[in-house]
Amino acid sequence: MQVFECIIYGLDVPLSILNTNTPPVAPADALQHGKLFDSHGRQIRDLRLSVTDRCNFRCVYCMAPDVKYIPKMQLLTLDEYIRVIQIALSLGIEKLRITGGEPTLYPHLDELLKEVGKMGLKDIALTTNGSRIRGQWAQRWKSLGLNRVTVSLDTLNPQRKDAITRSQTSLQTVINSIDALRDAGLTPVKVNAVIMRGVNDDEVVAFADFAKEHEVDMRMIEFMPLDAGKRWERRHVVSAHEMLEQIKTKHDVIRENDSITSTSMNYRFKEGNGRIGFIASVTQAFCGACDRMRIMADGTLRPCLFSDEEWNIRSLLRSGASDDALRTFLINTMWQKSDGHQMNQEGFQRPQKTMSRIGG
Ligand code: GTP
Ligand code: 5AD
Ligand code: SF4
Repeated sequence: MQVFECIIYGLDVPLSILNTNTPPVAPADALQHGKLFDSHGRQIRDLRLSVTDRCNFRCVYCMAPDVKYIPKMQLLTLDEYIRVIQIALSLGIEKLRITGGEPTLYPHLDELLKEVGKMGLKDIALTTNGSRIRGQWAQRWKSLGLNRVTVSLDTLNPQRKDAITRSQTSLQTVINSIDALRDAGLTPVKVNAVIMRGVNDDEVVAFADFAKEHEVDMRMIEFMPLDAGKRWERRHVVSAHEMLEQIKTKHDVIRENDSITSTSMNYRFKEGNGRIGFIASVTQAFCGACDRMRIMADGTLRPCLFSDEEWNIRSLLRSGASDDALRTFLINTMWQKSDGHQMNQEGFQRPQKTMSRIGG
């Protein structure tokens, strides 16, 4: 880890804690043919933008009940989000995923979609908890240029839903959202379930039934050490292998030909529509082909979900910086992207922030 000798205390402290806000200067080959690269040879094509750290749920694997939000002054404005996305696009970003917190709580979501819909991105997706979507929203989003939506749904049991999300939104509300999104053509609708041992691991087969019935891509995710409560332990993780074996007791499934950057290992059913996928971040890391970068609601650029090395572009944006200066900031930041998470190595340090802050 890079350290800095703190003048006042005479202590060695990690640079990331000091938040110097300026990434180290990358060598010239960080930019090849105008595209963003990291120092491990990976081209960055996928931008995940968290437009708010606010959420109306408090999922047990994610947020604390009494979370402290980023002060409003520190959140990027709509114009700042648009500018950063344009800069990223000029560096070869092709996919944009709008995340949160809960992005439907962001007051300018429609305006943002309208602008990004015109930018010529190959793919625009959004991740939501499905609590606030109305049928007409889905149609409007589609007309503004949104291609796909992913919804979080971790149980099909109404009481369990309240316990996991620590919210009053009914299960049926979320299921209705999923159906409305699919009917509006925001497809494939992906449904994310974080599977935790002793919490919802008895529902894996039911999730496969759900995928077929609702014609969605149901993805079962290995629980990762990103929970605010810091309760994650390896014994809580249900492996993708174990989940697949459970599903095979009821369904005939066929492995799909996934793209190299796919986070999920996908299967279709021998009969019927819908698909299932497994996101095995813990037992089968997919970092080697990772093409993602993240920007948080306060302008913090995070090259890797699991590394606390991050740099904030907000003050640069607010100091009249040129497009070239912003491009250089992105290039230098992404060059620092870690080669992967160390979850399976001794001495692994869990990230300090939760997914609600970093963006899914
Ligand atoms: P698209 O390719 O845009 O459809 O997204 P996706 O298939 O990656 O799905 P999504 O963005 O919904 O991510 C699904 C889940 O994968 C997240 O909720 C995380 O649990 C996990 N995930 C996403 N990105 C990363 C990452 O960079 N590293 C790790 N370890 N896990 C990730
Ligand atoms: N482990 C795995 N996935 C998580 N998410 C949030 N916290 C975790 C965690 N600890 C993902 C879920 C959710 C999305 C917003 O972030 O998939 O649907
Ligand atoms: Fe909110 Fe999503 Fe985190 Fe749940 S997982 S608390 S819906 S940000």
